[in-house]
Amino acid sequence: MNKRVLAFDVYGTLIDTHGVIAELGMALGEQAGAFSQRWRDKQLEYSFRRGLMGAYAPFSACTREALEFTDRALGTDLSEAQKDRLMATYAKLPAFPEVAEALTRFSSAGVTCVAFSNGTREAVEGLMVQAGLLDHFDDIISVDEVKRFKPDPAVYAHLRERTESEAQDTWLISSNPFDVIGARHAGLHAAWVRRSAETPFDAWGGEPDMTVTDLLALSERLG
Ligand code: 2OP
Repeated sequence: MNKRVLAFDVYGTLIDTHGVIAELGMALGEQAGAFSQRWRDKQLEYSFRRGLMGAYAPFSACTREALEFTDRALGTDLSEAQKDRLMATYAKLPAFPEVAEALTRFSSAGVTCVAFSNGTREAVEGLMVQAGLLDHFDDIISVDEVKRFKPDPAVYAHLRERTESEAQDTWLISSNPFDVIGARHAGLHAAWVRRSAETPFDAWGGEPDMTVTDLLALSERLG
């Protein structure tokens, strides 16, 4: 039997992008939650747009530009120092609480695990070190190596090339429906980590191969 490879999306799946809310709360009070959501949505929109335009830039540029946009859109008038601090916090976002235990289970079962992200290798490695997760991964694979963004089929092909895995043995694990749909479109299996029951899946006529509430639930199915 071929070895199964699990490729974990990073932002939103392993790492909580709304970990900036405490820092935002100090500057914006009750607007912090809305700001964080708009910032994240715009960051992804910028990655999609840059992909379509053939104007790749590191994901951190999408993050910074989305921060500037959100500040303008919500009229929050953050200072340059506040924006710099938010970007620094973004580089140290926390992992979701169950991630370390789930990854320990996968490592003990001998499953090949890689982190697979829009973020650069350096950014992802920094987050993994900060969260104490680095040792659980066999590798970090970044879209930066091909200068395309998810869900371009080229990035999923790159994932398979780097892990030397067949499509049927390769699982994308992600909380982001667009990532799940992109991986399945490229012929991979995909598990959707539906962390909130209120999050809908896109009505594109296809379903994830598996839906779980968190990574511990995933370890019971794929560990
Ligand atoms: C990631 O690639 C999509 O933000 C998500 O880590």
